[in-house]
Amino acid sequence: MRVGVDYYPEHWDEDLWEPHARLMREAGITLARLAEFSWCRLEPRDGIYDFEWLDRALEVLHRHGIQVILGTPTATPPAWLHERYDIYPRDSRRYPLGFGTRLQRCLNHPVMRRYSRRITEAMVSHYANHPAVIGWQTDNEFEANLCYCEVCADLFRQWLQRKYGTLEHLNKAWGTIFWSQEYTSWSQIPLPWVARCGEEHNPSLRLEYRRFASESTVSFQREQVEIIRRLAPHHFVTHNLMGLHDSVDYFALAHDLDFVSWDNYPGGSWTNAGHAELAHDVMRGVKGKNFWVMEQQSGITGWGSVSRRPAPGQIRAWAWQSIAHGADAVVFFRWRSCLYGTEQYWHGILNHDGVARRRYREIARFAEEVNRLSAELDGTTLRHQVAILHSYEQNWALQIQPQVNGLRWWQQVSRYYYSLRGLGVGVDIVPIGADLSHYRLIIAPSWYLMTESDAERLTQFVEGGGTLVLSPRTGVKNELNVCRTEPLPALVRHLAGVEVDDYDPLGDEVNHVRLNTGEEFACSVWADALLLQGAEAIATYTHSIFSGEPAIARHQVGGGTVYTFGTYGEPELYDTLFARILDDVGVQQMAGIPRDVDAQWRVKDGARYLIVVNLANEERTALVPAGASVVLGSVSDGGAVRLPPYDVGIYRVEG
Ligand code: GAL
Repeated sequence: MRVGVDYYPEHWDEDLWEPHARLMREAGITLARLAEFSWCRLEPRDGIYDFEWLDRALEVLHRHGIQVILGTPTATPPAWLHERYDIYPRDSRRYPLGFGTRLQRCLNHPVMRRYSRRITEAMVSHYANHPAVIGWQTDNEFEANLCYCEVCADLFRQWLQRKYGTLEHLNKAWGTIFWSQEYTSWSQIPLPWVARCGEEHNPSLRLEYRRFASESTVSFQREQVEIIRRLAPHHFVTHNLMGLHDSVDYFALAHDLDFVSWDNYPGGSWTNAGHAELAHDVMRGVKGKNFWVMEQQSGITGWGSVSRRPAPGQIRAWAWQSIAHGADAVVFFRWRSCLYGTEQYWHGILNHDGVARRRYREIARFAEEVNRLSAELDGTTLRHQVAILHSYEQNWALQIQPQVNGLRWWQQVSRYYYSLRGLGVGVDIVPIGADLSHYRLIIAPSWYLMTESDAERLTQFVEGGGTLVLSPRTGVKNELNVCRTEPLPALVRHLAGVEVDDYDPLGDEVNHVRLNTGEEFACSVWADALLLQGAEAIATYTHSIFSGEPAIARHQVGGGTVYTFGTYGEPELYDTLFARILDDVGVQQMAGIPRDVDAQWRVKDGARYLIVVNLANEERTALVPAGASVVLGSVSDGGAVRLPPYDVGIYRVEG
C-alpha cells in the first residue's frame, strides 16, 4: 500500500524541486504522478521533443525514493497543433469548441490519433527503462467522445454499416418509418445533432450514438495502451476514472487496463461529492478488484468559487475510507496549490506559500500509518454476498428517456445501496456479465433494455438458489431501444411470476403501499399494477387507481426467489424489506455501526480487518467483534469503540 502526490514540476522553478521532494519524503510519500498536462513542454514544436526537464525532475524524485506514474499528455493538445489542424470537437449544433481549457480534441480525428500515438511512443520509449517509472496513466479523466463533427458522422455510419449490414435491417430495427425517416443511403444517417429545436431524435439512433461515442474513447485509449504494452511491458497501465461519471462505459474502458484508478473529491464540487462511499464501490466493481485513488482531496476545492476547508482530521478520514473500500494506493491532488491558471484555488497539500502546515502534517500522519501497516494489509480485498447490477447502457437509455423524476440510474442505485449499507452489509456493484454465483442477493435497478442473454443470466442465478430483486421498468425494451411486445417484465415475467397489467408514472406524486405484515410506506416515481401469475403479493397499493392491487410480489422459483417491486418507496420501505430478505438469505448484518461511520471488512486468507471510519464531526461509538485485536486506534471494554470526530480504527479478527 502506498501514498503519493500529483506533482507538476513544470509549474515550479527548478530550484524548488529538491526541497519539494525532500518534504514529500519526510511526509512518507513514495509515489508521484506527473506530466499528464505537459504536452507543450514535452513536444514544444511539431515533432521536436524535450524530455530533459522531465528527466531532471525524475532524477530528483528518484533520489528521494519516490516512484513515478507518468500520464500521457493527450488531454491538453498544444496550441501549435490546433493552429495547424482543426481537431476541435463539434457540439450538438456542430459548432467548434475552441482553445483555452482542456479536452478540446475530437478523439476520432485522424490527426489527433496520429499525434497521440506519436507523443505516447516518444514518451514510452524514453521512459521504458527509467528506474523511477513504474507505470502509466492514459490521458486524464476520459469522457465519451460526444462530438458531432463530420469525421465522427462518417465513422458512425461505418460503425452502423458493420453492425447492421444492410439499410433494410437498420430501417426495420429502428422503425425509421416513424416520421418518414427511412434511409436509402448510409450517408443520410445523421448524428443526433440539434434538429428542430426541442424535438428529439429516434431513441435507437440516440442510444447507438452513445455506444459509438463511448467506443470511440475506448479505441482511442487502446492505441495508447498497445504502445505502452509493446514498449514497456513491465509497466502497469491505469486510468483515472471519475466515480459516478457515466458517459463512457467504464467496463469497456477498463478492460484494457491492469487496474482502475479514480479521482476522489468527497467534499469537492463534482458529482461524487457526498457519494464517496458509493463511488468507491462502483469503482471497485469496474474490474472486480482493488483500485487506486489517483487524485484524493487534500484541501479546499473549487475554481472560481471554493468549498469549505475540510475539518481537521477529515482528509485523513476520507483517505482511510478509500482504503477501506479497496484502494491500494492513495495519491493526493495536488502537492502544492498552483500560483496561476484555472485551478489556483483547488488547493494542494501545501498552500501557495509552500510551507508545511496542518494539512501536510495530517497527510504525513496518514502516510506514516499506511507505510507502517502496509505489510499487514497488503493482499487484502473485499468479499461480499450482496451485489447491485450496474450497466452504462441502461443508464444511457434512461437518460435518453427519463420518463419521470426518480427513474435516473444513480437515483435507483442509491436507494438500494444506502439502505443495504445502513443495514450493515457490504455491497458490490457489478456488471451482469460478472461471476454472480457467489452472491446470495442481487438487486437489478430498472433493467430497462433486456437481452435474451441478460434474461438467461438472471434465470441461472435464481435457479442456482439466488434471490433477485427486480425494479419497475424492467424488460421494457430490446437492446436497440425499441419497445418489446411481450407483457412486462417481458423476458423475465416467468421468473418474476407476475405480469404488469397497467402502470401509472407517478413522478413526484405520493401513493402508499401496505405490506402484508401491516406496515405502510409512501411510494412514488412509478406504479406498476402487478397481476400475480405464480407469485404472491407482499404489498398492495392503498390509494389511487391501483388501490388494493399488488405493488410488490415474491416468487419462489427454481430453488431461488424473485422479488418484483412495482414501485419506489421511501427509504424505510427498503430498510424493512431488506432486513427481512437478508435474514432469509443468511447474510449477516453488522450491528452497532452508526450511519455516519463507514465500516468495511478487508480480508485475506487467515485474517479479516474491520476498518471503521467516523465521517461525522462528532464522537461516535461503533461495535467491534469480541476478541478483535487493535491494528490502529483504540478499543474499550466490551468491543464498543469510541471514535472521536473523523477518527479511524482498524481491528483484526483471525481466520
Ligand atoms: C480532476 C482532474 C484534475 C484537476 C482536478 C481539480 O477532476 O483530473 O486535473 O482538474 O479535478 O479540478
